[in-house]
Amino acid sequence: MRQLSAWLAANTPLEPEVNKFVELFAQERMRLLGDKTIEHYVARLQRDPQEAMYLHQHLAPPETWLFRYVAAFEVLREHILKRDRSQVIQVASLGCATGSEPFSIAATALSCGLTAQHIHILALDYSDDHLAVTKTGRASALAQRTPIPTWAAPWLHPTTQGQLELDAGGMVMIELTRGDLSIWKPDRAFDFVFCRNVAIYLNEATKKRLGKLLCEITKPNGLVFLGHADSIILADTDMRRSEVDHAFVFARSDKPSESMKLDMATRALMPLVTPSAPKMKPGVSVAKTLSARTAATPSPAPAPIMTLLTKAQISADSGNLVEAEKALLAHLAVEPLGIEAHVLFGCVQMAQNKFTEAERSFTKVVYLDPLNSLSLLSLGALADLRGDVKGAQRFRERAARTVEKQS
Ligand SMILES: C[S@@+](CC[C@H](N)C(=O)[O-])C[C@H]1O[C@@H](n2cnc3c(N)ncnc32)[C@H](O)[C@@H]1O
Repeated sequence: MRQLSAWLAANTPLEPEVNKFVELFAQERMRLLGDKTIEHYVARLQRDPQEAMYLHQHLAPPETWLFRYVAAFEVLREHILKRDRSQVIQVASLGCATGSEPFSIAATALSCGLTAQHIHILALDYSDDHLAVTKTGRASALAQRTPIPTWAAPWLHPTTQGQLELDAGGMVMIELTRGDLSIWKPDRAFDFVFCRNVAIYLNEATKKRLGKLLCEITKPNGLVFLGHADSIILADTDMRRSEVDHAFVFARSDKPSESMKLDMATRALMPLVTPSAPKMKPGVSVAKTLSARTAATPSPAPAPIMTLLTKAQISADSGNLVEAEKALLAHLAVEPLGIEAHVLFGCVQMAQNKFTEAERSFTKVVYLDPLNSLSLLSLGALADLRGDVKGAQRFRERAARTVEKQS
């Protein structure tokens, strides 16, 4: 497989080390295409851009889901609410895969009362196929792994095929573009740049370039959002990670900015993803909320308290399902009727292939909240797995009807 490594190094921005997974993929393609030796397959990669794209898609898969690292979208929301609306907010979703990330950004913007006149979201990916899926505006059942924040749910409409479809008002905020981050140069600067879980697939030179690029294209008071394993790419820049837990957000400063600190203290008073999270109206000043409180209480701002539910959400987002399950069981022991917790518990069970337990959780949710579309869609997916086609269809139709009832 040395030839394949050499080809990757010379022709792609990807990490060229060939592992067992890549080897198996190449062998399978050789078998299907009738290439007798690896040299033949490498020659095919050289002459056939479609096959090269196919390999790229397998080496850097479109693994993504709605509201991945939900804390990042809470931070985005706080910042959007504070922004001056006379200027268009520029956002980039670099390595947008099949769209869940730009959809989550758009739903966040809609929840703040923004329209396409206020915000523009550039969604870029290397793969035409991923962009074609993004263009549908629909996130599949696979992209619904963790609960949608209650403030975003009204802008994601369940379809009868089990997807969640971004509201048309959100789709018009998004511009799709094909690009390769190893050579891409944008024509503008951005207020918020998302480049999450892309660098991990790239070779060292491209990672270095990308870190520099992210820094250059982010406005002085802008933010960069990365994946949990990507931080290293900003090490040589003046962007520093904020103290907001689990958001993986970076700002241009040695220390977290004053506004970040205010956010942290405000967040300590505001649970991340609970149905009871106080809704922040556009125009509400975070600083004002905090100073009103600190005026009454002169003691230092409290350290952020991480609720068990938040801990569970973060663990689930990072793929630590056992930790998520533990935190949820502890949370549900105190709050047995917590709808968000039951939904997340169902998702965590599904992700572990514990389908009976998942079904029990989602059934409980639908009993407590008959309009809970994520649970109805999940029950549809579980019915599918049992081969119960009619049952699955019924759940999907119920999920689709929740949109009419809620609107
Ligand atoms: C794991 S997905 C991340 C999706 C999303 N950002 C998230 O965190 O949920 C990685 C995406 O990066 C894209 N990608 C990989 N290399 C790229 C490159 N050189 N230029 C642009 N996109 C690239 C892949 O096509 C894939 O869709």
